[in-house]
Amino acid sequence: MDDPDLDAAYALKTPDDNRALYANWADSYDSSFADEADYRLPQIVAFVLADVMRGSGPVLDVGAGTGLVAQNIPDRDALEIDALDISPEMLAQSAKKGLYRAYIEADLTKPVDIPDEIYGAVVSAGTFTHGHVGPEAIDTLLRIAKPGAVFVLSINSEHFSAHGFEAKFAAIESEIAQLDFRILDIYGPSGPPEHQNDKAHIAVFRKRPV
Ligand SMILES: C[S@@+](CC[C@H](N)C(=O)[O-])C[C@H]1O[C@@H](n2cnc3c(N)ncnc32)[C@H](O)[C@@H]1O
Repeated sequence: MDDPDLDAAYALKTPDDNRALYANWADSYDSSFADEADYRLPQIVAFVLADVMRGSGPVLDVGAGTGLVAQNIPDRDALEIDALDISPEMLAQSAKKGLYRAYIEADLTKPVDIPDEIYGAVVSAGTFTHGHVGPEAIDTLLRIAKPGAVFVLSINSEHFSAHGFEAKFAAIESEIAQLDFRILDIYGPSGPPEHQNDKAHIAVFRKRPV
């Protein structure tokens, strides 16, 4: 079978679609997608996290995939980072890199078996996007975050508009503080021409009380 590609990923509809696509993509994701598409989001998200987290941990990487966020966090050896993903094949790739403390196979569109208030930082790149995860998952992430935890979540900007993220952030206004959005390119200049204008909102906020 040919490697899946970005357009196939954006066209997914269900968690089972995601499991099936990423099972086939895991082996070649870093080379056939991230390198070829000049995919910059994980590095951007990792750098923003390092800038705002001020040592708070442990960190949960949501939709960790092959580990590109953790790979790009400066001084990551000083941090405890857990990987959460629906795809065991993607988690297996990240495990080969030895970047994470724990590997959690879970579907974020459903309740997840993680205790309340255990993470000091929650980070995500490329998972709040077309055909993947919607705004409802933010409730779960708030539940498992400690008071004061920092969040750095990339949200594909078209997905943000189409799936009610603005309303979601308004609805959780009393639970979060210091909300800030940075809007950045997902792909660099050598990425796919038809995706050159794809942007992500990087949502940075803290869980109250800060
Ligand atoms: C585009 S990849 C991003 C991976 C990595 N963060 C990166 O930036 O390279 C999206 C990831 O989200 C995961 N994913 C998709 N749906 C999910 C769900 N419902 N729950 C948890 N993870 C999910 C996929 O398995 C995949 O690893």
